[in-house]
Amino acid sequence: MPAVLAVDKLEDILANSENFLHRMHELGQEPHQQKQLNRLFSPSEAASMVGRDRTTLARAEAEIGFAATARNPANNRRVGYTLEQIQAFRQHFGTLPWRDPDTDEPVVIACQNFKGGVGKSTTCVNFAHYLALRGYRVLVIDTDSQATTTSMFGYVPDAEIDQDATVLAYLGGHQKTLDYAVRKTYFPNIDLIPACLALYEAEVAIVVHIAEQDSPAARRAFFSELRNGIQTVADRYDVILVDSPPALGMISINVLIAADALLVPSAARMYDFSSTVQFFRMVRNYVGQIAPEKSYRWISVLTTLFDQRYESQKQFFEVMRTCFGESVFQRVFFHSSEVINSAAQFLGPYEQPKPARKVLEMMDAVFGEIEVTMLRDWPSKRALLNQRGIT
Ligand SMILES: Nc1ncnc2c1ncn2[C@@H]1O[C@H](COP(=O)(O)OP(=O)(O)OP(=O)(O)O)[C@@H](O)[C@H]1O
Ligand SMILES: [Mg+2]
Repeated sequence: MPAVLAVDKLEDILANSENFLHRMHELGQEPHQQKQLNRLFSPSEAASMVGRDRTTLARAEAEIGFAATARNPANNRRVGYTLEQIQAFRQHFGTLPWRDPDTDEPVVIACQNFKGGVGKSTTCVNFAHYLALRGYRVLVIDTDSQATTTSMFGYVPDAEIDQDATVLAYLGGHQKTLDYAVRKTYFPNIDLIPACLALYEAEVAIVVHIAEQDSPAARRAFFSELRNGIQTVADRYDVILVDSPPALGMISINVLIAADALLVPSAARMYDFSSTVQFFRMVRNYVGQIAPEKSYRWISVLTTLFDQRYESQKQFFEVMRTCFGESVFQRVFFHSSEVINSAAQFLGPYEQPKPARKVLEMMDAVFGEIEVTMLRDWPSKRALLNQRGIT
């Protein structure tokens, strides 16, 4: 049999699989031009999301000027409200959860761990959905060249995202603000700065660029570039979520410096645990050298992919609680077939037209705990937290 040259073989594999990915997005998986949030919220869901009862909402519809809400012809009941309508209700009744611009700073949360496959992108996208449903204004920044998060928003990154549409143009000094990179998504309340493979190639260019700087201070300054860029657009958001690459590199150090808080997904497994410890060591070393004054509002490990059928995972969760103390969230992100099956359709469980209640309850508990951690830093939310018995 003639030998097949490895590179030729790769050409075939690439052609077939890129073609498949395109077709997946084209067929039924809704490319971003057509993708929309197809979930409607029942009047009782809407009531709890807005904080007013159903009758009050129904009465306010005309006043707000909604086009007629879709009704079921069989019984004339409202089929449901869109998230935009829920947001309009919140605006009308003054129940938007936005931070107070006079007292509360927008928070930049990096989903980061140098360990691969621990659920960073899944956490980032689903937390963004959670926050958007709660009514916060969210910016998601994808800094991973694998662009999983970008794909979850309906893009085929390498066909549709030019490197100039990513953070690269700003990092390369070609743009003065990050405005050029921010795009609206189909998901109300979420904007996105996308990623593509070029971010990976840029790592080398960045090293060269840094090496060309003539003073250590100028070299160090480069690592604050992403932070500076985010500050140019942060004002219009409550939360900025950054998805990071699973490795130490120029971009991931920029993410570390840009972040106000670190959300560190980690599975409760031996190798993941030791990688997470290693990640913390690197954060201490690199941030300590580059920005010794830097502090984080919080650094917390989120236990992901948790499968309680395994005794070892329960034990490791206890190990994590002992070692990380208050820096591990109490709630765990369970391994869930809904998460896997939704991802295969480029969707998250929150955006399924008929969501599986159990997985939403689980994610609400996880993200609710992170939300409280976030709210603690906003002075305007103290009274609210006190009312809920949280200090
Ligand atoms: N809770 C969960 N239940 C089941 N599968 C999950 C869950 N969280 C993540 N996954 C799956 O695990 C895989 C890795 O998740 P994800 O891409 O979020 O990890 P990551 O840390 O971002 O990976 P990378 O390091 O490559 O960026 C994906 O196939 C994802 O669908
Ligand atoms: Mg990822």
